[in-house]
Amino acid sequence: MESKTEASITIDVPITQEDPDTLRKIVKAGLLANPRTLPSKLFYDERGSTLFEQICELPEYYQTRTEHQLLVTWADEIVALSAAEELVELGSGAATKTRVLLDAMERTGQLRYFVPFDVDESIVRRVSEELVQEYPGLQIHGVAGDFLVHLEHIPEGGKRLVVILGGTIGNLPPSAAENFLTDVNTEMASGDFFLLGVQLITDPRRLEAAYNDQKGITAKFNKNILHVLRSQLGARCDPDHFDHVARYNPDAHRIEMWLRSCQDQTLDIPDLDIFLSLKKDEEIRTELSTKYDRPLAVDLLMSSGFELVKWYTDPEQLIALALARKP
Ligand code: AVJ
Repeated sequence: MESKTEASITIDVPITQEDPDTLRKIVKAGLLANPRTLPSKLFYDERGSTLFEQICELPEYYQTRTEHQLLVTWADEIVALSAAEELVELGSGAATKTRVLLDAMERTGQLRYFVPFDVDESIVRRVSEELVQEYPGLQIHGVAGDFLVHLEHIPEGGKRLVVILGGTIGNLPPSAAENFLTDVNTEMASGDFFLLGVQLITDPRRLEAAYNDQKGITAKFNKNILHVLRSQLGARCDPDHFDHVARYNPDAHRIEMWLRSCQDQTLDIPDLDIFLSLKKDEEIRTELSTKYDRPLAVDLLMSSGFELVKWYTDPEQLIALALARKP
């Protein structure tokens, strides 16, 4: 385990310890499955994280600003109810919305520890350095890891508020979401609080517009998975020979992102012994973004061992924050 300390920043990087064969196996099994899939965590190298930050600013992508506004309105209450001294954020990214919670904790004098946890090591380092400047005395223990695998790297702290924002949970199919939140619950102590941000089921046209922006940033983000496949696994493919596709699947109430082959072509990863012939219009699924309603979200929380404390939503019911507690 690599562990570096400077000022009050500690960063664990379990992601570098991950057996490279694990990723290879997942990629291989996904590409050979029907439908073909790639794991969404592969979006997030440094370029992918930056593209996602640009998505969050798009006019069509209402999700980020709606959740941000909800946090501005309710952070003081959430923080007071939680009585937490340690904020743990799974999938912290640029931690922009997190600052609203940190500010609220600072106001009440509760703020001691922050644990940014993200699969992209570069963003964990950047955010830790920024926040240690912005919040004097804050102890930061970052984790660059896969939250499906490395949850035990969350350090012991005081009373915790664990948050998963941005609808990140929607990336997981239902049973994986339940298993993951059950693991999160297991890491927590009785009385600790959990805040889950979910994207709500709404007008499909509005949902599809949010993933098909005019500037084409989401398309670039989608194709970045192929750039990562090339740089990390030595794949041979041309990202320009794929089209970005995002559509709503009403039965599974989720947006699905796909890469559609523009022509008959090959996608080879010699190291993994993969030599695919893709037909024109053949698709590879790169992301699920599941939308919830209140019963679905409460059901997920309860089956993972939480009890609902409070449900916050915006007037248009686009986003919800479910505040829960481990009994
Ligand atoms: C980070 C998974 C919540 O599903 O809305 C945004 C990712 N993909 N635009 C989402 C995403 C395309 C985002 N999550």
